[in-house]
Amino acid sequence: MARVISFINFKGGVGKTTCTVEIAVCLAAHHKKRVLLVDLDPQTNATFYLVDQPFWLDWVRERGSLKDLFTDYILQRQTFRLDRAIIPNVAPGGLAIEGLHLLPSHLSLITIDEQLAGVSGADRGIFGPQAILKAHLADFEDAYDFILCDCPPNFNLVTQNGFFASQAYLVPTLPDYLSTLGIDLIRRQASRFATGIRQTFPTVGAAYDEPRLLGIVLNRVRVLESGSPPRLPHVQQRAIQSLKNTLGADHLLFASYVTESVAVSDAPSGKLPVSISPDAKCRKSQEQFRRITDELLTRLQGG
Ligand SMILES: Nc1ncnc2c1ncn2[C@@H]1O[C@H](COP(=O)(O)OP(=O)(O)OP(=O)(O)O)[C@@H](O)[C@H]1O
Ligand SMILES: [Mg+2]
Repeated sequence: MARVISFINFKGGVGKTTCTVEIAVCLAAHHKKRVLLVDLDPQTNATFYLVDQPFWLDWVRERGSLKDLFTDYILQRQTFRLDRAIIPNVAPGGLAIEGLHLLPSHLSLITIDEQLAGVSGADRGIFGPQAILKAHLADFEDAYDFILCDCPPNFNLVTQNGFFASQAYLVPTLPDYLSTLGIDLIRRQASRFATGIRQTFPTVGAAYDEPRLLGIVLNRVRVLESGSPPRLPHVQQRAIQSLKNTLGADHLLFASYVTESVAVSDAPSGKLPVSISPDAKCRKSQEQFRRITDELLTRLQGG
């Protein structure tokens, strides 16, 4: 049965998309897992990391995107077919990644949150509009080992759909003061969400398990190579310490992290995730994402 994991942070630009895509690529290419990446963000960044725009345009016109899954619910119709909308074995830069499938997003998903908020779920089955994605994924649980949801930087209804479908969530963050401030808010919001589900749907909601926080992944860490041994700038060290204090448990912080790298920032425009790039410049980041993926697998086994 697929493990569903959401990549969440309410703060923008911290590396949610980068981590989701690179970990998905590692799981498929290096661990030979069957992976579905669900792009829940109207910015469509994960989608365009893996497929080019002309291909995407033809695909979503013909077969639909995540937006149509929600539109069906809003219009009370059943025309959307998830099996048709999923792009199989994506081939960024012409390199096919066997086993990595993508449910593409759409720029007009941006209006869906608002529309969903206006729909009452009461007469639409047992759960409300936060359960739309989970209901569709139910038929695909045996088709994948992992389903990774790249969430937008908020906790609106589309994000809640990813969260509700997930057994676990991972929080990428930057090692800076403002980025780490929000982590506790995410955990509180997660608990509040679970309590809300149990209260709103007392019968079926009682069995609802809050997704487990798998851990925090630090991104864009700067290592000062001049020192011996190499160390992080003081400002990043202070932010990491304050994060540990907030978490109250050091083990929630992944031991592996991603350093600042031009190879990573160039990857989406080059349409080649660093994790499969043959370019020697990508080797360091490649190794980092591999370690994070290994750690994620170990953490999943532990719970
Ligand atoms: N380790 C890194 N080194 C250099 N650039 C990075 C690194 N990680 C991410 N970036 C760049 O930072 C920007 C933001 O990253 P990304 O899109 O993954 O963040 P995000 O949290 O998904 O953002 P949003 O909240 O807008 O969805 C991108 O341009 C990305 O290429
Ligand atoms: Mg993103």
